[in-house]
Amino acid sequence: MCELPDETRRALDIPADILALDQVQMRRLGYEVVDRVVEHLTTIRDQRALTTGDLEMLTAQLGGPIPREGSPISENLATLADIALANQQHGDHPRYFARVPGPSSYPAILGEWLATGMQSVASSWGGGSGPSTLETITCGWLRDGIGLAPSCEGVLLSGGSMANITAVITARAHQGQGIIYLSDQTHSSINRGLLAIGQPAEHIRTLATDETFRINPLELQAAVQTDLENELHPMLVIATVGTTNTGAVDDLPAIAKLCDSFNMWLHVDGAYGGPAALCARGRSAMPGLEHADSFVTDPHKWLFQPYDIACLFVKTPGALERTFAMYPEYLKDVAGGAVEMQNRSLELTRRSRAVKLWLTFRSYGLETLAAAVERGIGLAEYAQYVVEQNKRLEVVTPAALGIVTFAGVDSNADDHMRAAAQLNEDGYAAVSSTVLKGRTVLRLCTINPSTSTGDIGGTLARLAHFLT
Ligand SMILES: Cc1ncc(COP(=O)(O)O)c(C=O)c1O
Repeated sequence: MCELPDETRRALDIPADILALDQVQMRRLGYEVVDRVVEHLTTIRDQRALTTGDLEMLTAQLGGPIPREGSPISENLATLADIALANQQHGDHPRYFARVPGPSSYPAILGEWLATGMQSVASSWGGGSGPSTLETITCGWLRDGIGLAPSCEGVLLSGGSMANITAVITARAHQGQGIIYLSDQTHSSINRGLLAIGQPAEHIRTLATDETFRINPLELQAAVQTDLENELHPMLVIATVGTTNTGAVDDLPAIAKLCDSFNMWLHVDGAYGGPAALCARGRSAMPGLEHADSFVTDPHKWLFQPYDIACLFVKTPGALERTFAMYPEYLKDVAGGAVEMQNRSLELTRRSRAVKLWLTFRSYGLETLAAAVERGIGLAEYAQYVVEQNKRLEVVTPAALGIVTFAGVDSNADDHMRAAAQLNEDGYAAVSSTVLKGRTVLRLCTINPSTSTGDIGGTLARLAHFLT
């Protein structure tokens, strides 16, 4: 019998429990994390909405050479919470109104922890039948709650950027290469994604939106006809329900009709606005969702989930698998079950993002979630009302799907940027500016149900003060 080589022996002498912690220690550290998070969530109103740290200070406290020896986990947890995680935007703060907030909920956080702790995996059926079933069920609940076509199949991805581009890859596999139509209000991540997947810039048509920031279907039709006359192939229209800038909703029934007549794929980006369709007011603001050939929505925006989770739906059964399926020799023994989530996008190893969303739906129920979403719509309408009462401010675009934009009367672009920066630095609230048809404006996105009318009033009063 031949001897084991020395180096193998030495490797096997390393204790098997080298990374293990004892039960008591694990529980104590776990409770420390729970205590930290509960403290964060229950005192958040008294904390800053956003803190941007100093690079040198952060690097000094978090960096140094690669640690050769370990140090107490409890101390390291404190450093993470007090330094790294304190220096960021708190998208879950009731006065965080900038860009798109991320008001996550406690059941969703628990679901995320549980899934992580149990090394959840939703790749193959053989290796993740439970999580894969959760994903099918949860996507189905979301599809039906939003009112998409019943044949839609879903897959969960990291965010709107990845989900939208996965939709485009699927559409292109189905329709062939061709011209893609979008608007000047389409989220910029889509244009970036299109170029990254090799869509020629000269085959992207960016349509100027009308005065309500929506695609004009007549201009879309004209652009399609011009391309046909030039013997090009109109392939895909990307519409948005709930644009990031103003909450505008493209005219889906009219655009869907055009897509039908010219055999184009209709993709709808509802990354921001999609969850609003869970409540009656939101649903009535975006008719025609059932026409979407593919649809994206981000539960980590307006459905109270911690980052990250986006959902892509595709109406033609099997289209995702036809685009992404692979059956290499090393996956044959886990493949071939009910659903292979690994074959619905470019992700192979993927954690179960469905766990947190499933727990949220089950724990709150649709009615409570819809009411929480509806409150966000109402809060933007309240903000509009407060702006209208303030002589120093004027509404630029009225409240739409939780977003209102406004400006200081007689204030210029720099004044607006400065006012936003001052408020953010002050820490009371976080707001952002944007540019609408050349005009710099301020914008509130009010989708956190724990925001009070006092929070809105206090934020607008401070902004009006900083503007003058
Ligand atoms: C309408 C819209 N689409 C896409 C995205 C990109 O989503 P993510 O940041 O999750 O990648 C956003 C982000 O704000 C958005 O508002």
